[in-house]
Amino acid sequence: MSEQLKDDETSSYSRSTMNPFVGPDAPPVITDPYAVPLEDLNPIDGRLFENDVHWDMFKRLREEDPVHLNESPVMGRYWSVTKFDDIMFVDKNHDLFASGHGITIGPQVDANLTTEDLKLENFIAMDPPKHDVQRATVSSVVAPFNLAKMEATIRERAGKILDDLPRGESFNWVDLVSIELTTQMLAVLFDFPFEDRRKLTRWSDVATASPGTGIVDSEEQRREELMECLAYFTRLWNERIQWDQPGSDLISMLAHGENTKNMDPLEYLGNLILLIVGGNDTTRNSMSGGVLALNKNPAEYDKLRNDVSLIPNMVSEIIRWQTPLAYMRRTANQDIELHGKQIKKNDQLLMWYISGNRDGDTIERPEEFLIDRAKARHHLSFGFGIHRCMGNRLAEMQLRIVWEEIMKRFKFVEVVGEPALLRSSFVHGITDLQVRVHDL
Ligand code: HEM
Repeated sequence: MSEQLKDDETSSYSRSTMNPFVGPDAPPVITDPYAVPLEDLNPIDGRLFENDVHWDMFKRLREEDPVHLNESPVMGRYWSVTKFDDIMFVDKNHDLFASGHGITIGPQVDANLTTEDLKLENFIAMDPPKHDVQRATVSSVVAPFNLAKMEATIRERAGKILDDLPRGESFNWVDLVSIELTTQMLAVLFDFPFEDRRKLTRWSDVATASPGTGIVDSEEQRREELMECLAYFTRLWNERIQWDQPGSDLISMLAHGENTKNMDPLEYLGNLILLIVGGNDTTRNSMSGGVLALNKNPAEYDKLRNDVSLIPNMVSEIIRWQTPLAYMRRTANQDIELHGKQIKKNDQLLMWYISGNRDGDTIERPEEFLIDRAKARHHLSFGFGIHRCMGNRLAEMQLRIVWEEIMKRFKFVEVVGEPALLRSSFVHGITDLQVRVHDL
């Protein structure tokens, strides 16, 4: 443990020093989880995901210690929950397991630490009743009626992006398709100035990044950029509050909604970031993950070529396969037993969706990517219970449309290089996927 971290125990912490797997004192990454004692396994290490070596660690945990304890000086006790049914139990029992202390790993609840981190409030990290009223205010933007209205725009934009792709040369699919398309979709949701849309991508990246892992260098930089985000959206809010007819975009909904119109600025920022990250990283990585999965499973690609009506089912399988958010955190409201382990009040629980989605006791042939899988929607990637992903139908629609448009144009989106993966144990992401497209 570094001196810095020891200091942090008694004074303040920052996201970079809190993470023992960042910096020069970080221990080597565990590539063979069966070669080390069980208690040394700690899936929170983002380098496991960057190197794609987390699968066996989760396999061993599911087999030998499905509710697994780690402790850290700053974060206290945190449990990795790795089996499908246990995850479902935690997710569904919001009275036992709270979201209000945060949905990613953080300092121990009663540690009484001060922090320079920007604290953002949003309803994914709230408990009832406040969670329920805020969610109800914005959820109509993704109601079936609004989704149907968006479909034509999404299809048109997807088609244009695919038509403009380079031919006869390789390019990064993540950048030219996954990011571009999800960003354009977000711009539609927010009615955000089209020419500035890449700001949304940047803010999403900044919001989820830890300083020192490649996206921002320091907590101050993160804070500054998020404040720019707030200033930009405050301008849009002020414009829209003046409109005679309230718009049907998300900002107008927040500005006019009875339960959201008096939000304080940080709460507004928090909810914006929730919607930006929710609608950006996740769908982006499903778009990249699908291309990769089909390339690794050519027989499935053939199935798709022979029957494009499999697309809706394939979309669910892609979302399970990729599991764009690897985990969500809860905090125990009381002492409770889970799978034979004694959880104490204020312990953190990490629901590893990425592991539950490979649990052979619930999902048949879980290691295989099968686009015609039965009950493909029965996966954990959207969570369950009162926090179940608000945008799940929108995400599925976007992915369905993009695959329908891809199949109209290309007989093969060929992966031509090793993918580069994100160093994060929260967002399970692909940063570079070199492909070449082959026209029909
Ligand atoms: C494949 C794409 C997506 C995945 C895998 C995903 C995943 C998730 C997960 C795991 C949760 C938390 C569930 C829980 O704690 O039980 C969540 C919540 C949420 N997602 Fe998504 N999401 C996706 C797309 C979207 C989109 C497109 C939006 C845009 C509107 C969105 C907005 C939200 C919101 C607002 C919440 C908070 C819900 C609440 O706390 O009540 N998500 N999502």
